[in-house]
Amino acid sequence: MKATSASKKHADELTEAEAKAELARLAREIAHHDALYYRQDAPEIPDAEYDALRERNASIERRFPALVRADSPSRRVGAPPVETFGKVRHAVPMLSLGNAFAEEDVADFIARVRRFLGLGEHAGVDVTAEPKIDGLSISLTYENRRFVQAATRGDGTEGENVTANVATIRQVPQILKGKGVPDTIEVRGEIYLAHADFEKLNAEQAAAGAKVFANPRNAAAGSLRQLDPSITARRPLRFFAYGWGAASALPADTQSGVYEAFRHWGLPLNPLMRLCRSTEEILAFYREMGTKRASLGYDIDGVVYKVNRLDWQERLGFVSRAPRWAIAHKFPAEEATTRLLDIDIQVGRTGALTPAAKLEPVTVGGVVVSSATLHNEDEIARKDIRIGDTVIVRRAGDVIPQIMGVVASKRPKGARPFRMPHVCPACGSQAIREIDEKTGREDVVRRCTGGLICPAQAKERLKHFVSRLAFDIEGLGEKQIELFYDEDRIRQPADIFTLAERDARLPASDRLVEKKGFGSKSVEKLFKAIDERRRIGLDRFIYALGIRHIGETTARDLAKAFGTFATFRAAALAAVKGGRDSDAYREIDNIEGIGETVVDSLIAFFGEPHNLKALEGLLEQVTVERFVRAAAVSPVTDKTVVFTGTLERLTRSEAKAQAERLGAKVAGSVSGKTDYVVAGSDAGSKLAKARELGIAVLSEDEWLKLIGER
Ligand code: IVH
Repeated sequence: MKATSASKKHADELTEAEAKAELARLAREIAHHDALYYRQDAPEIPDAEYDALRERNASIERRFPALVRADSPSRRVGAPPVETFGKVRHAVPMLSLGNAFAEEDVADFIARVRRFLGLGEHAGVDVTAEPKIDGLSISLTYENRRFVQAATRGDGTEGENVTANVATIRQVPQILKGKGVPDTIEVRGEIYLAHADFEKLNAEQAAAGAKVFANPRNAAAGSLRQLDPSITARRPLRFFAYGWGAASALPADTQSGVYEAFRHWGLPLNPLMRLCRSTEEILAFYREMGTKRASLGYDIDGVVYKVNRLDWQERLGFVSRAPRWAIAHKFPAEEATTRLLDIDIQVGRTGALTPAAKLEPVTVGGVVVSSATLHNEDEIARKDIRIGDTVIVRRAGDVIPQIMGVVASKRPKGARPFRMPHVCPACGSQAIREIDEKTGREDVVRRCTGGLICPAQAKERLKHFVSRLAFDIEGLGEKQIELFYDEDRIRQPADIFTLAERDARLPASDRLVEKKGFGSKSVEKLFKAIDERRRIGLDRFIYALGIRHIGETTARDLAKAFGTFATFRAAALAAVKGGRDSDAYREIDNIEGIGETVVDSLIAFFGEPHNLKALEGLLEQVTVERFVRAAAVSPVTDKTVVFTGTLERLTRSEAKAQAERLGAKVAGSVSGKTDYVVAGSDAGSKLAKARELGIAVLSEDEWLKLIGER
């Protein structure tokens, strides 16, 4: 769609002729996006950008009411229904909601309600507050308790008959139970997909070579709009009720009262709904949902407030396409568009080449983002991402920014498909995609074959070696490793421990103290920190070696099984010698938690003479302590613990390792078997579940006290 110079001007600056042209352009553009969103479930711009188009249309129409077009987007909600499903006329139109973005907008909303109803400036206005589910709206008709029809919103007046599909959704009751169910009632609510189900569905789609969905909402829409209901039945769609349309009678005279009745009838309601009695309470709810958002397990894009008294709702009525008695308070956009300036290739510790997007900085969800992960070359090809493209960036919660897709209409002329380099950018060695022996398929990751000669891999291995869960040397972080490597001071792990001694032998002007940013105090501290790490536990030591496929847990399993480094090394060397058919191989393979991938990787590591030499050098410098099992009894021995939320003093992995050392089991989810839930800040659904099940909840401090760390 072409942008004209008028499209850059503020609504207040347009001449009448420009306004007319602009409204025509906006009508076309919004219709285009509506069709992509509603019919093809494949939007190409973020919601915030779409909202901005509608807002611009509305503000021009406010200035030039005479120019409002018959086909203006302000007169329509969504897109007309597609032809293939039967049509259903909504007895009561399915409307949309006005938006509030700032806290002032919420205060304005309440003030407007008071004014409209002629209430005093401080009169109490109770409102229900509930999450705004990012799915698709649905209308369910019940006659004599029985579910008889389901319809989508369509254009608000007429929707699609999706009864057969909705009948397959388990959370939609077939029969309403309990007292006070009216003869006919049309229940309205949202159909959505949970994150976990979305991920699973996409993985299945990808494996089957079928369409992968951009987000849970599109996946839910695509699943509901299947002409074959047996396909819908296989998609775990969910439902929350939040309102009603036509009804022969209502069970209460407040919104919250009707919700209560709904609950008794067996309709699923969002458990987070709350009745608020003041603007402060409303805003507290909004902030609370903002922090819970990332851990809910499904997408919400804001919260919705509804005036609780139904007689007031009646009096307030509607204005254009939205009720005066309700408003959506949106979260800051988590998506934005920006330009992809370049694609950088980063080389990891195991040689994996990872493409990273360099972006024109853009604010997403309140944070400036200038880079994003691109995962691998297949992902780039699948999304057809090209340098110069305008891309949609998403940042949800504390997740690393992702590129969701490109805005095809904004692609610069001549932009070429991205081609992953076939040589390592750091050492020039071949970079290849290995073939998985078992599946015969190409690995998605391209790897540098430079191994020990690749400086990028060497640096990453050293960074891993000194990291928190490995040698954890204070004052020796990623920055220092980069610097010391480039200056030839540290090339392999053993060099760390000979740094002080070699430094003392250098001409005075070359010594570390002379370097910018390294006063004598800090150098002294660094050397001391290094010395303090000359003794190390076997599990940490194995982990520090950075052998492929040997993470923290596997390193522990190996340490537990072998007890000393000498035994471990002897077993690995015997497996190198004997190969895959040897007893030595089987001995390692038989260890609980260890599989062939790990044994093969050990063989690759111990089969490499350079590694053995480096290891020998290292062992001259450090002492590897025998692995000690957890103390026989600690206050948490055999207890099951779940960590949730953000911890202040420990990282999650540290907390986990520490608990395990003390003999506790660490679980990922809360159940009847859980003994303690340790909740950091922003704890979400796990905390709620613990409270529900009456499980002991500890703060981080209380936990540390319990295990005697404070
Ligand atoms: S009430 C007339 N409550 O948001 C008022 N809507 O932007 C009807 N939505 O079309 C809407 N969660 O599909 C309401 N708790 C909630 C909601 C909700 C999601 C959707 C709904 C509606 C859209 C409006």
